[in-house]
Amino acid sequence: MGLDNKLFHGKTLAILSGGGDTPAINSSIECVRNRASVLGYKVYGIKQGWKGLLGDGQVVDLSFQPYNGLYGGTALRSSRTNPFSSKEGEDRVAQILKNLERYKIDVLVTIGGDDTNGAAKKLYEQEGIPVIGFPKTIDNDLRTRTIHHYGGQDIEAVICPGFPSAARTVARLTSMLRTTTESHQRVMVMEVMGRDAGWLTATSVYGGADMVLIPECPMTKERKEFFFEQVKEQYMRSKNRCLIIAVSEGVRWYDETTGKTEVVYASSETDEYGHARLGGVSGVVAGEITRRLGLDARAQVSGYFARSGECREYDRRLTSTLADKVVDLLLRNAYGQMPVLNKVVRYNELEEFNTSSIDMGSIGNIPLPDVYYDKNTFNVTEAYRDFLSYVMEPIPQLRFDSDFPVVVKN
Ligand code: F6P
Repeated sequence: MGLDNKLFHGKTLAILSGGGDTPAINSSIECVRNRASVLGYKVYGIKQGWKGLLGDGQVVDLSFQPYNGLYGGTALRSSRTNPFSSKEGEDRVAQILKNLERYKIDVLVTIGGDDTNGAAKKLYEQEGIPVIGFPKTIDNDLRTRTIHHYGGQDIEAVICPGFPSAARTVARLTSMLRTTTESHQRVMVMEVMGRDAGWLTATSVYGGADMVLIPECPMTKERKEFFFEQVKEQYMRSKNRCLIIAVSEGVRWYDETTGKTEVVYASSETDEYGHARLGGVSGVVAGEITRRLGLDARAQVSGYFARSGECREYDRRLTSTLADKVVDLLLRNAYGQMPVLNKVVRYNELEEFNTSSIDMGSIGNIPLPDVYYDKNTFNVTEAYRDFLSYVMEPIPQLRFDSDFPVVVKN
């Protein structure tokens, strides 16, 4: 069939990526681009998220260009530009409308979390811009209404592109930390990204983390007392006298000097969506463990490593499957929708049959469900381990049981 006979011949679809990057964004761009091309669209890329639709616009042609979807991050680049946060006298929405018209863009696919897709939905509702959202976040806290069947329960879980690759990195980094932690018989406090939710931090158990602190459970004065008792007990019980504690950057921690239970900020700056930069809680926790318990404790921030590196297999197929659903949405003119996975499935069951779409107006954030976390042990439950077993392979645990016989002096 010639290009002219294709259904959407003469139409243009543009893709943008906004917010924090993930290892699966290039894969999402490539998969959407390929399918849109098959439908006959000319495919454009908007550079740097919403920023690329301001001023004169920064638009590139992705049609028929080689594209490496396995390379992590986003070749379209990203920004946290908010179309609705205008500096004095600047009407960003008007600029976006003007550029969509100038570049003759008929449909916009917005790859993002709730900030980017929330803005897209508002543009659709207020200005009638045809948008389709595409999920992404390593934090995995974007509502996708993905059901996890476990032990006779239907748990509302989330599987967002970017999370499976990041989860593997976090688990792998945790498993690597074991050797140095053991060598010095320390308590290692590893900080993991996750502003509001502990989905990603909790994946560290797959790499052998002994305890996990998540934003869903604020560490109040009382909780801290209990935590220190548990640290001491678990450290003394541990075979090699060492402990790895994973802590989300967004954990609220009781501060004796202020009497408040608050997050630890890396900077007082906020982005255009009002988010402050977090960081440093691991140092605070490690410092208090040493002071209170006399144990040698250190902090290690995993930070941007979780976002970095290549797109892993599960993410590759997930983005491909969700892009299939985008085709369905385009064919039905179902704008203001975002494709999602219906139920938690293994790699080989990732197919369009298991997808649906949700209204972008009802996405928002979702914390780690209570059923996945045990507040008494500061650890994940079997239900969470089961959830993880669908999206990632077990991580080889580094172990060397060195029980050498002790030499007794004559
Ligand atoms: O996208 C969310 C996130 O991954 C958070 O976990 C983290 O706080 C934030 O990104 C950091 O983003 P930035 O790149 O702006 O430092």
